[in-house]
Amino acid sequence: MRTAIIGSGYLGLTTGAVFSAAGHQTYCVDIKPTLIKTIKSGTPPFYEPYLDELVSQTVSNKKLIPTLSYEEAIPNTDISFVCVDTPGDKDGNLSIKSVKAAITSISKNIEKDNHIIVIKSTVPLGTANTIQTIIQENTDKKVHVARNPEFLAEGSAVFDTLLPDRIIIGTDSNYAFNQLCKLFKSIDNYAKKIINEENTRNKIMKFSKTYRSKFNYSIPFENRVLRTNTASSELIKMTANSYLAMKISYANAIANICENSDANVNEVLEGIGRDPRIGRDFLYAGLGWGGGCFPKDVRGLIKNAQNYGYKFNLLKEVENINNFQIDLAVNKVKNLFGKQLSKKTITILGLSYKPGTNDTRKSPAIKLVKYISKYVKKIKIYDPKSLENAEKQLENLDNIYFASNIEDVFKESNLAILATEWPEFLSLDFDHLKDLMEDNIIIDTRNSLDRHELESLGFTYTGIGI
Ligand code: UGA
Repeated sequence: MRTAIIGSGYLGLTTGAVFSAAGHQTYCVDIKPTLIKTIKSGTPPFYEPYLDELVSQTVSNKKLIPTLSYEEAIPNTDISFVCVDTPGDKDGNLSIKSVKAAITSISKNIEKDNHIIVIKSTVPLGTANTIQTIIQENTDKKVHVARNPEFLAEGSAVFDTLLPDRIIIGTDSNYAFNQLCKLFKSIDNYAKKIINEENTRNKIMKFSKTYRSKFNYSIPFENRVLRTNTASSELIKMTANSYLAMKISYANAIANICENSDANVNEVLEGIGRDPRIGRDFLYAGLGWGGGCFPKDVRGLIKNAQNYGYKFNLLKEVENINNFQIDLAVNKVKNLFGKQLSKKTITILGLSYKPGTNDTRKSPAIKLVKYISKYVKKIKIYDPKSLENAEKQLENLDNIYFASNIEDVFKESNLAILATEWPEFLSLDFDHLKDLMEDNIIIDTRNSLDRHELESLGFTYTGIGI
């Protein structure tokens, strides 16, 4: 099949790269010239495991065609996937401005009947009529519309696109449904082939299991497809993200009880997570959730629910608990040093909102740096991939030092805080690093380090609720 992917962010470029690697001629369309130029050179504009190999391979064999031009892409394709951003507006509602612009441009360039427009972007419930009107105003050809909400997570985007645990198709068009099933089945066949190659599998799955149990390969493709009506498919995405955020906030709320008692949150969560009705995935306490999706989708659902007569107070509390985790970490630092805090140098390990990505949008680690910087003499920061992105967000702070390596970030520090649990931070040589520090104190806001090892080396160790 020939496809056009509109929007070349994490979602669009990963989808385009996977489709083209599976043999489908794919145009990646974006309005940003610098982005298209970078992709044309065979490189993704952001870090995502294995995406660099896919993009370089498919751009060079011309299966993936990056372009600024809808006129070039749409007449040559059968299906367009809308993968543009839907950021929260000033009130928190998801803005569909870019979706509308994309659908207008697609519709204007459709030359034959039966083009399919698939909306992968997260849109609010109740967007269907607006989209139909735009299409009708801009083309007289027969167009089929479907929603196919996306569940890929950064750090495992290629794996999630190759082998999604469910494929939601929301449409009233049988033609669109059948064509999409054919396309996704071909991706599934390709995925199973490459995932069996050990080398490729290891690269693709580098961060796939960060918070999730293994993909269940025994579930046949057909059982992973779920056809729904349009409205349901619109609501599914925000509901899924908000539920996951709620699960994490629940874990953090329990951690806060543990903070003031002898209970250990890791044991409590393990104890409940073994109940299959609850599950252990996304039940890790820590500094809280961030990124380009959970914060905007939780807020978006609170706002969207209001339009349908429901006050989603539960989700407001989910946000409050999440914000509190930063205060909790800062209070730990304040309690450790009291009035001496303004003379101290603090090390922060990790700046991205989670391991496996260089994305620092709404990163809890960045919030922590901004907050703590007000109280301390100096903050030394290090991240394996996201220093450049962090620099843009932290440029106004004058007591921040960007370290170039691990030794540098630990040198003369009074306290190290693990803020993002990159695998390389979990296997550091603390026996050596302790000699570089002024004081051997660690706050592990992701409960990921080996407490016993650190304490036996003489560190004072504090986690979250443990
Ligand atoms: C999330 C969803 O997991 C995807 O399914 C969805 O497609 C995507 O949003 C999206 O809407 O596009 P993502 O934001 O990439 O994916 O990252 P997650 O792996 O979900 O992590 C989100 C945040 O939760 C991170 O800050 C992470 O550190 C935190 N987290 C996760 C915890 O604090 N505890 C956990 O147990 C799990």
